[in-house]
Amino acid sequence: MRKYFFYLISIPLLMHCKPEKNGPGFKPGEAWPDDQGVHINAHGGGILYHDNTYFWYGEHKIEGSAGNKAQVGVHVYSSGNLYEWKDEGIALEVVKDDPNHDIAQGCILERPKVIYNEKTGKFVMWFHLELKDMGYDAARSGVAVSDSPLGPFNFVHSLRPNAGHWPVNAKDFHKSPVADTVKEKYCGGLGCLPAHVDTMNILGRDYEKGQMARDMNLFVDDDGIAYHLYSSEENSTLHISQLSEDYLTYSGKYARFFPNRYMEAPAIFKTSKGIYYFIGSDCTGWAPNAARSASANSIWGPWTELGNPCIGENAHLTFLSQSTYILPVKGKKDAFIYMGDRWTPKNPIDGKYVWLPIDIVNDRLEIRWKDEWDLTYFE
Ligand code: DGJ
Repeated sequence: MRKYFFYLISIPLLMHCKPEKNGPGFKPGEAWPDDQGVHINAHGGGILYHDNTYFWYGEHKIEGSAGNKAQVGVHVYSSGNLYEWKDEGIALEVVKDDPNHDIAQGCILERPKVIYNEKTGKFVMWFHLELKDMGYDAARSGVAVSDSPLGPFNFVHSLRPNAGHWPVNAKDFHKSPVADTVKEKYCGGLGCLPAHVDTMNILGRDYEKGQMARDMNLFVDDDGIAYHLYSSEENSTLHISQLSEDYLTYSGKYARFFPNRYMEAPAIFKTSKGIYYFIGSDCTGWAPNAARSASANSIWGPWTELGNPCIGENAHLTFLSQSTYILPVKGKKDAFIYMGDRWTPKNPIDGKYVWLPIDIVNDRLEIRWKDEWDLTYFE
């Protein structure tokens, strides 16, 4: 009798201590069905929060290796809670009837991001653009605009950043004749690449026609000034450029950081203490590598590298993912989500998403793997 009494008392107590988790959560690396039951198709994506709704924009991929090029455009989803996403269709379509168009079907259109311009009332999308049949040589930035977060976005132009402008931290030798020999090597995840930074002076080479821009992100600061950050100078060096007031082009003010560090997949965020944090990756194609992080008291630097923020099994491969965006959770102080892609280049549509909470510990970033988690983590 005593035994049964113990069970009668303890079972409800145990249930009270460890409540069953109901409701939605994040399951990093697993298929993530949208409201139609279809795995979300928004790779290399980013999030806009507008009027109490999150909008997730990303590369729409198709099956097979053709899916590594843009066959459809940029997909958009909406959500009120970050777990459940409604398929809102294609926000920006590639051009199917003009093979010479900048965003012709078959171009490479990667890492689209959307920001809202309070002054113009327009939604502005930027993306990394490689012109059709040019491999990754064009290294351009594409811009599109819409009156609605759901689109349709209209293509405005594509351009190389900051033609005819020197960065605020250019060195004297950048402005002297371009050296034609490569004297250094960078040995990283892809083996040894020629170092393009100071000996070959890619910055000087591209001064007139504009700088290269590949992996990219956008960041709008508290004062409404927007920045484009991108891998430049043959991926060797990160540039941060201030955009024009309408966010449609460059202001001409920019700076170069992490020379010769071959940072890809850049993303930044800012905490309530006013510290800017950077997360990026090494440069190893579609294969995962160790993430990098850095911090600064001003977006213009100096930026101090803080190492790989990931901790635990597969930390050296960023949990088999590559950063694409850092999402500030609305209504929660200093709550940030690491968003990464688990690329599957043989069948790109299959790529999964790795979303994990970021801890800020003693002014450094820490990211730990979780099989499953939800926003109560930040409480
Ligand atoms: C790594 C980049 O981060 C991706 O966006 C993509 O450009 C691949 N390289 C292509 O190899």
